[in-house]
Amino acid sequence: MGPHFKKTVTLDVGGRRLELRVAQDLFSSHEVDVGTRLLLRTLAGPEHGARRLVLDLGCGYGPLGLALRAAAADRVVHLVDRDALAVAYSRENAAANRLDGVEAYASLGYADVRAAGFDLVVSNIPAKAGPPVIERLLLGGAGLLAPGGLVAVVVIAPLRASVTAVLEGAPGVEVVFRRATASYAVFHYRFRGPGSAAGPAGPGPGGGRRRHQAPRVRVARVGRGRRGSTPPRRRPSPARVGVVSRRLASRGAREATAAQRGSQPRL
Ligand SMILES: C[S@@+](CC[C@H](N)C(=O)[O-])C[C@H]1O[C@@H](n2cnc3c(N)ncnc32)[C@H](O)[C@@H]1O
Repeated sequence: MGPHFKKTVTLDVGGRRLELRVAQDLFSSHEVDVGTRLLLRTLAGPEHGARRLVLDLGCGYGPLGLALRAAAADRVVHLVDRDALAVAYSRENAAANRLDGVEAYASLGYADVRAAGFDLVVSNIPAKAGPPVIERLLLGGAGLLAPGGLVAVVVIAPLRASVTAVLEGAPGVEVVFRRATASYAVFHYRFRGPGSAAGPAGPGPGGGRRRHQAPRVRVARVGRGRRGSTPPRRRPSPARVGVVSRRLASRGAREATAAQRGSQPRL
């Protein structure tokens, strides 16, 4: 990996040891992040073993996606990141660990994800991305999930309250698992409603872009001591859940990343 290479870190998963090459510039280059390991532990149960098609959103050098690939023989994993160096390292690490069924490529949010019908979307959410982007990373995958598909994310502790507010304030989102430590919080959630598993609605070739509607619940800005404002919540009617779920699905990733457009993949 030329001048970017820093060191090799290890990650034990499913009785084998992955050796992952890391670059100085990539997230958690000293060792696999504690939050990443925590998220993996929450997905280690047999109930997740059958989740075959997996998306690792913001893959870095690949610890989440590659560990999940190594844990299940017939799994197919897409690893995406906005950073071309991360994509290159994920690809290299898949090959170095002889993991097939791995697709690593650049995507800004969900915008360029090349498949749909994911059984699982995982992400160690980039805290520095800022509230609008974080909200889109949290909610923008609705249209890419298979029926029964799960999103599993880890965030740093300062974002726990605002991420909770986003998930609980989004009609159609059902949080099915939470775990918090002093430093991290993990959420597993699903999208309910008719549009929540609508397949490749968003990122397909024909997906148009719409101006993003201002979210009503915002993620806290890290490091500025600002809490997201949480407007009074009203329980949505079932009809509204359906409408918003369909909107989420059809908006999809391409349409949901307007605020991210300022940052381009480092290609
Ligand atoms: C917290 S790191 C996690 C990296 C890796 N998954 C891990 O667990 O070590 C977040 C990653 O998300 C990527 N990222 C940030 N914003 C993104 C965006 N809008 N779309 C795609 N990737 C993004 C960053 O480049 C970074 O690699």
